[in-house]
Amino acid sequence: MAKETNNADQSGREVLVLLGGAGDLALRMLLPSLYYLEVDRLLPHDLRIIGLARADHDGASYRKLVREHLGKRANVEEAAWNRLAARLDYLSVDITKEEGGKALAEKIGPHGDLVVYFALSPSLYGPVCQALKAADLTGPQTRLVLEKPIGRDLESSCATNAAVGAVVDESQIFRIDHYLGKETVQNLTALRFANVLFEPLWDNKSIDHVQITIAETEKVGDRWPYYDEYGALRDMLQNHLLQLLCLVAMEAPSGFDPDAVRDEKVKVLRSLRPFTKANAAHDTVRGQYVAGVVEGSAREGYLEEVGKPTKTETFVAMKVDIDNWRWAGVPFFLRTGKNLPDRRTQIVVQFKPVPHNIFGKAAQGETRANRLVIDLQPDEDISLTVMTKRPGLSEEGMRLQSLPLSLNMAAPGSRRRIAYEKLLLDVFRGDRTLFVRRDEVEQAWKFVDGVARAWAEAGIDPAPYAAGTWGPQGAHALIAPQGRAWNE
Ligand code: BG6
Repeated sequence: MAKETNNADQSGREVLVLLGGAGDLALRMLLPSLYYLEVDRLLPHDLRIIGLARADHDGASYRKLVREHLGKRANVEEAAWNRLAARLDYLSVDITKEEGGKALAEKIGPHGDLVVYFALSPSLYGPVCQALKAADLTGPQTRLVLEKPIGRDLESSCATNAAVGAVVDESQIFRIDHYLGKETVQNLTALRFANVLFEPLWDNKSIDHVQITIAETEKVGDRWPYYDEYGALRDMLQNHLLQLLCLVAMEAPSGFDPDAVRDEKVKVLRSLRPFTKANAAHDTVRGQYVAGVVEGSAREGYLEEVGKPTKTETFVAMKVDIDNWRWAGVPFFLRTGKNLPDRRTQIVVQFKPVPHNIFGKAAQGETRANRLVIDLQPDEDISLTVMTKRPGLSEEGMRLQSLPLSLNMAAPGSRRRIAYEKLLLDVFRGDRTLFVRRDEVEQAWKFVDGVARAWAEAGIDPAPYAAGTWGPQGAHALIAPQGRAWNE
């Protein structure tokens, strides 16, 4: 069985501290990710892990708690668990206080690289950074990993970034957007920049429009105290949806290194056309779910969950324009919501139709423009629809059909990785390519603040949609002009 780690001969050992170590994110995502990295022997060999929270545990009871949670999602391999447990320790302190920082420094003792993961409410980032600094834990060997949301608007985001930036350099900060750790998101970059096929077609000459959907079947439920302050715009669009948009729209970076990639993403964010009072009513849709049925089970409305009147949106859709040469005239349709009929994260790149049909009348109605569909979840799949001849003979001449060329990502029987596995591994390796830079977060907030301001000025409140439907009617009207439709 694992022993308490003591501070003797720890010098040079890498240490990971999980702030919020007894919380939901740590137990449901971070520790299982560390376990899987342990199974694959990908953790730094001398890594120590310290869970830290105010909850009252000692090392043994914390390991028991972690083991129980792990058992809920995995068939735990005892040998790997024992290796992980031997690294695992716990400290119960209030890390927003100077004494908490001191106690942590004492627990860590002499060390090598130090990774501090903030799985905490962002309102605590400032005081925690001060406590870490006072305890001399913010030297050049320290990396700070920050969970979203970094702020609630541009102003609060700048304040949080400044508080963290006051104790460490930007190169020591790893801002997580867990979507960037998803396998297919990385595959999107490979698809675009490791093939010659797509790049010549990746612009307004060949692409009609792009759709990005993150649909969730989950309700807000117990998370409402957090969610009600943010809503779908700030919880999902500011980060995950805009990050996906950047990866689809960015220019080829000069290399796959942190600044080259992030420079290109920031350029896209800077090119997003801001919303105004005048266009927000046409080009955005806000929704809030009312009672309905999702996957066969009855759901109450958002207002009933919250228990008081609120105008927070649980659904948002918008048509976004990117004002640059490549994308002028190509709308990007984004949507996300809770209590939708399907769990689906999908990017659809809709190409333009062929300029002229040579196959005659019968085939005309059968011709479909090419479409690249990138599924991130629940399945990981990339498929390109191409037109082919329908087999056999016909009196009416050549008949056509559309068939998908599919690159199914999952190796048979393979486990789907948790996005955090890749991101934790990159933090240990010190690679910031898949993390969000300060100017990126702030630029994204600038855009989102513009949307919120336009809604307020135009008096746009959320329209109701029944749980289990694809959002308010307006979401369909948004994309319908020019005969377009959501891929449902
Ligand atoms: C989080 C949001 O960032 O992403 C949640 O705060 C949302 O509201 C979650 O449910 C979705 O993540 P995933 O990986 O399950 O699609």
